[in-house]
Amino acid sequence: MGGAACRSRNDAADAGSDVTVAVDTAPVADPVAEPEPRTEAVPEAIVFDVYGTLLDISALVDHVRSVVGPTPADAFVALWRRKQLEYSWLHTLMGRYIDFWEVTHGALRHVARHHDLALDRAAEQRLMQGWLELPAYPEVTGALADLGGTSLAILSNGAPRMLEEGLPGDLRARFGEVLSADAVREYKPSPRVYRLAAERLGVHPGGILFVSSNQWDIAGAAGFGFRVAWIDRAGVARDELAGIPEVAVPDLSALARALRP
Ligand code: 2OP
Repeated sequence: MGGAACRSRNDAADAGSDVTVAVDTAPVADPVAEPEPRTEAVPEAIVFDVYGTLLDISALVDHVRSVVGPTPADAFVALWRRKQLEYSWLHTLMGRYIDFWEVTHGALRHVARHHDLALDRAAEQRLMQGWLELPAYPEVTGALADLGGTSLAILSNGAPRMLEEGLPGDLRARFGEVLSADAVREYKPSPRVYRLAAERLGVHPGGILFVSSNQWDIAGAAGFGFRVAWIDRAGVARDELAGIPEVAVPDLSALARALRP
């Protein structure tokens, strides 16, 4: 986001001036519309991350509220996701693999402790069930149909059970392969996981466009040699990690347009 240098009320005061200058922060309309992003060439295969990319984790907020009541559900879910990822990376670094369902369950126990909640077994199970019932983002099915001429696959840290039960049937049907990091017992962004996709698909890394909303995943995939597209759903600042995305778009419909020959 660019910003023109401007003189603020404080600048004026600092300069000892008695003139205050109101700063107009409204964006100046660009007379020439920005062209939509384009990718360089049609990939041989497009490989998708799942959580936050195809499936909407924010749906957990209402689910959590329905189970644990007045606890701040958005903070609960944000910490749950952060710990889930952190634990997955730590287990990989420590060489002590447990599957993503167990990782997610462990993260839940931490979050409950953090919020001073004594969850019984039934409440834990209900909360965990939320991960198997996440909805796809509204544009996903249509965008995948638009991308249908290309080989489509999933590569997720999700445990096989989470992917089997958690991907809605119509969505699952769009993908030739649904690959879980469980096959190599390490988690993305370990290069071993991205290699799994290249090997299973029989496509060299440069022929794969990897699509994720998670910047750590984009960095890992780019580092392995995939082309990468970042789905920046929340409009966040780019992380200072290797691997500048070839295309950054707000959703999968925009990606489908960017890939149109
Ligand atoms: C994935 O689906 C955890 O979002 C990550 O692999």
